Amino acid sequence: TMTTQIRCLISAGPTREWIDPVRFISNPSSGKMGYALAEEAVSRGFEVYLVSGPVSLQPPTGAEVIKVESAQEMQEAMFRLFDQASLVIMAAAVSDHRPSHCSRQKIKKSDFPNSLELVPNNDVVASLVGGRRPGQTIVGFAAETENLLEHARQKLEAKDLDWIAANDVSSDEHGFQSDFNDVTLLSKSEETIPLGRKSKSEIAKKILDYVWP
Ligand code: CTP
Repeated sequence: TMTTQIRCLISAGPTREWIDPVRFISNPSSGKMGYALAEEAVSRGFEVYLVSGPVSLQPPTGAEVIKVESAQEMQEAMFRLFDQASLVIMAAAVSDHRPSHCSRQKIKKSDFPNSLELVPNNDVVASLVGGRRPGQTIVGFAAETENLLEHARQKLEAKDLDWIAANDVSSDEHGFQSDFNDVTLLSKSEETIPLGRKSKSEIAKKILDYVWP
């Protein structure tokens, strides 16, 4: 008999918003959490698509990796793969803004402006949710430095997600660059599940246990 594989779509890493050919706006996301989720999803037999911003990690064996740079490229890749996915996990740290203009040539120091004009990027996961079909599970992340659970709960509701993984990025002991993360999972049905401080691969296992039991 044929078994149809569950397709899982995961985003990971930062985005880069270019100012000119030598400068960009980004953030310290390492991609480790999203890559750990992709690896764990492969080992559970999912067909895994990993949309990745620029990171220095080995691609997880068995996952289809789509490399992107900007938030706009990430959005395009996520939209293209969204329909076929049953489980979508948005672990990427998407830049909320981009420069209103990207210069074709390096801006000389003497010409560099004192302030940059920025325009907002689209909220990728919120747009995906807007076009969801029944049966899709959509999971977001919330990176916070204060009022972790309150802010994460607000994001879960504002973006209409099924789950949000709240992580505290105020400490060097876990979060962005670290191999560890301290995550609390919140569900639409108002569960609050502390996963504790663990390696990102252990956190990935726990997240998948809950969101795709
Ligand atoms: N996200 C997204 N598109 C964006 C910004 C964020 O899809 N342009 C997603 C992230 O991948 C994450 C969730 O939204 O799954 C929350 O991201 P976060 O940066 O914590 O929140 P923001 O919506 O950017 O809110 P704020 O900056 O006010 O904390």
